[in-house]
Amino acid sequence: MFSSTELEKRQAIISACMEMNRLGINQGTSGNISVRHDDFILITPTSTPYERLTPESIVRLELDGSTKGPLQASSEWRFHRDIMIARPDVNAIVHAHPIYSTIIAIMGLDIPPIHYMVAVAGGDDIRCAPYATFGTEELSRNAVEALEGRKACLLAHHGIIAVGDSLSKALWLSVEVETLAHQFHGTLQLGKPPLLPKEEIDRVITKMGTYGLKE
Ligand code: 13P
Repeated sequence: MFSSTELEKRQAIISACMEMNRLGINQGTSGNISVRHDDFILITPTSTPYERLTPESIVRLELDGSTKGPLQASSEWRFHRDIMIARPDVNAIVHAHPIYSTIIAIMGLDIPPIHYMVAVAGGDDIRCAPYATFGTEELSRNAVEALEGRKACLLAHHGIIAVGDSLSKALWLSVEVETLAHQFHGTLQLGKPPLLPKEEIDRVITKMGTYGLKE
């Protein structure tokens, strides 16, 4: 049996999956979520409709890539695992295919500082990682690199990754990134958007300090 904290995390993953679809930032089972627990990772199983998930169907993923559970881990387990290893500050990862973020990612564009809220991802842009086939080491490498010093990135021709020290923060950030992508898409209809200077984003990052969700 699972400890009460592990069970809570398994349940929180299922609730966050349902919430992703309710929020409209994901379609079907195209997203996946992971949460760190002790020295292993809890991750959604591959291609399983979220409404069928039970705490037992969440897969235990070890840092060496081996898994435990009745179902196979998400096909994207590699980047979840590699981000958790590269980033001790990260306890939760949300991956989804939100429409506007994916449109921007299809165009291979970073989200530039069109709005001060770009700062919530940790810098003056949200990078777009170069395309690589889903589930590959190459995609994982590209994602870890695009996330350097950041809490979110786009994946070319694919979707987004948002990370956080808690699952609620990573989910909140996914919605913020999708909103920024929507705004960026809108500005592109009107021309070349004016951008905020890096110094202003730095000021916003300092001012934000503890801005955002607390847990
Ligand atoms: P899984 O169903 O295997 O988690 O994968 C969906 C996906 O997003 C692939 O990028």
